[in-house]
Amino acid sequence: MKASYLRAAHCLEVEETPIWMMRQAGRFMASFQKIRQRYSFIELVKTPELATHVTLMPIHAFSMSAAILFSDITVIADALDLGLRYKEGFGPSVERPIQSQQDVDRLVIPDKIEEKLSYVMEAIKMTKQELDTVPLIGFAGAPFTVMTYLLKDNLSRRPRECMKWILGSHSVVHSFLDTLSCLTASYLNAQIKAGVDAIQLFESQVLSWSLFTTYALPYLKKVIQRLENPKNIPITLFGTSFTSLYPLLQDIGAHVISFDSRMSILKMRQAIAPHIAVQGNLDPYYLLAPKELLKKEVMAILESMEGQRGFIFNLGHGVFPEVPEDHVKFVVDIVRNFDAKRAQCGKKG
Ligand code: CP3
Repeated sequence: MKASYLRAAHCLEVEETPIWMMRQAGRFMASFQKIRQRYSFIELVKTPELATHVTLMPIHAFSMSAAILFSDITVIADALDLGLRYKEGFGPSVERPIQSQQDVDRLVIPDKIEEKLSYVMEAIKMTKQELDTVPLIGFAGAPFTVMTYLLKDNLSRRPRECMKWILGSHSVVHSFLDTLSCLTASYLNAQIKAGVDAIQLFESQVLSWSLFTTYALPYLKKVIQRLENPKNIPITLFGTSFTSLYPLLQDIGAHVISFDSRMSILKMRQAIAPHIAVQGNLDPYYLLAPKELLKKEVMAILESMEGQRGFIFNLGHGVFPEVPEDHVKFVVDIVRNFDAKRAQCGKKG
């Protein structure tokens, strides 16, 4: 069935289980590595033709049920003129990080983010033209996670020092998070206007109940409240700590919650309200396992979720660069075969 991803996200009946994988366009693909030999990561992100090409790679190679725009959560730093850069082997960072209230006060939210980040909007439009019926997921980082990547001394990579700074900088942190929430909402609104079919917000930092409640939840809520979503496209919240935080996530307006691998997805399905879909949650380490073991794990998820509405097959986090490409294809084939068998049984019966 076409657009099984969108139907499952709205908890409607589907004929096949939708499957896509976080970081499905990345270094584990030989075709990605090849294109990276010619272009830097930032060039790929900022050149709409290249971003479109990379977005489509996993659709062509593995026929995923959804495409996710090739970009990065740190791209939003470009809208604030913080000087986005990318160090090979390290990742994204900014030339002018935030370290004081003056730095936050100096930030200007652009009136027209669609012009400031026009390369993102162009990539969305180009990708949509190529995709036919496969839906395109736009995304942004959740304010807390994005904040950590924009702080001084690359604090995002040193959790203890990062949290020490955050806990000791109460008002700077809250005013920065407030600015980021407004900016993130207008960034996502521009993506919706440019034509994405769905949105995913990434809360990738590991957070306790208390830290999440204080620094993340109010700002996630603010982003979602500010979304202009006339077509009611599905909004997914992904978080690396969501199997413990789920009671806090149910009434903030998300259509889908994407879970980490710490709890069975069936348990999470049963724990949350039936009108919210669940996404997940194969442990990404299993993609490195021998195929037999990988198959066992995928089948266990599929069998446990059989007959449940509102289920999107994904990983608990992203695909590792070391994963063999044929293991990704293998997983997609298992999911599709499982559905085909189920349909046949249905017809016979
Ligand atoms: O395929 C997709 O998932 C779409 C594209 C995408 C990327 N990053 C491309 C990317 C998405 C959705 C992201 C989100 C992102 N970026 C997150 C949230 C999801 C998560 O993984 O928790 C975070 C925390 C980032 C920040 C980031 N980007 C880091 C820390 C790094 C360096 C470390 C790493 O994992 O490589 C990146 C780089 C990055 N973003 C790559 C890709 C394909 C690797 C690029 C390369 O080195 O060639």
